[in-house]
Amino acid sequence: MKKDLISMLDVKEDLEKIIDYAIEMKKGNYEKFMEGKTMAMIFEKSSTRTRVSFEVAMEKLGGHAIFLSKNDIQLGRGETIEDTAKVLSRYVDVIMYRAFSHENMKELAKHASVPVINGLDDEEHPCQVIADLMTIKEKKGRLVGLTLVYFGDGDNNMAHSLLLGCAIAGMKMRIVTPKKFWPKEYYVEKARELGGEVEIEEISENAARNADVIVTDTWVSMGDEAEKEERLKIFKGYTVDEKIMTQAKPDAIFMHCLPAYYGYEVTKEVAHGSQSVIFDEAENRLWAQMAVLKWLFE
Ligand code: CP
Ligand code: NVA
Repeated sequence: MKKDLISMLDVKEDLEKIIDYAIEMKKGNYEKFMEGKTMAMIFEKSSTRTRVSFEVAMEKLGGHAIFLSKNDIQLGRGETIEDTAKVLSRYVDVIMYRAFSHENMKELAKHASVPVINGLDDEEHPCQVIADLMTIKEKKGRLVGLTLVYFGDGDNNMAHSLLLGCAIAGMKMRIVTPKKFWPKEYYVEKARELGGEVEIEEISENAARNADVIVTDTWVSMGDEAEKEERLKIFKGYTVDEKIMTQAKPDAIFMHCLPAYYGYEVTKEVAHGSQSVIFDEAENRLWAQMAVLKWLFE
């Protein structure tokens, strides 16, 4: 049966293996196992990291990637996802999809006969979280037992994939978010079923206590633009700044999937400060995705 990477749940048995592949590949140890293979990359939303890192990953592995903006293909004019999946499967060996809706993501995977990789949708961002966990392992030497504290929008793709990813990796996760932006119950339940220790609370003077890793993400995800004004008001007070960093462990690292909006979810001082690993994190998208391809095709 073909494998897909739609949710972090798809890698629950193999997460550690994929992270270790990525760390090895970063040292230059990989074969060109995608030689003669093509990836279609469908984008319904903007992207810098996901697009470039997948394209470079395919090149490094001997394969080829085709960038398809939704507006340029018939999907944007009403061709169904089912037909798109069936047609692309006749030409390419793997499909990467950045979608507005998780339902459409699942629909594409259902009808494609080749592996489908979720390059972000409204519920999950698994490629990012695999790269994040790789980065944490690189910096801290381990994952089990660490505490990750996430500030800001608790009801977005990053928060959900981190909930699952931390649970699978044996890490504790605290989400610090206003009541209105509690994560979807489904992801909290799944994380707890996987043995994850999850805390969810509003901002306080010691919200970052015991943190080994501090994470945030934009307050206004792609697709949430209509709520921008309201969100900026509600999230006021949740900016990751020096004060929050001093509540964490002294050797805590700061992470952000990027793009960042300085002065909102994080200050530029923290994001470009000595504890920040955001650019290693961005680089690791490349190695983690090469590892995901290895896992999909092994
Ligand atoms: N972090 C991330 O997915 O970035 P892009 O939107 O630039 O791909
Ligand atoms: N939560 C953000 C992540 C961007 C990579 C968004 O969906 O826009």
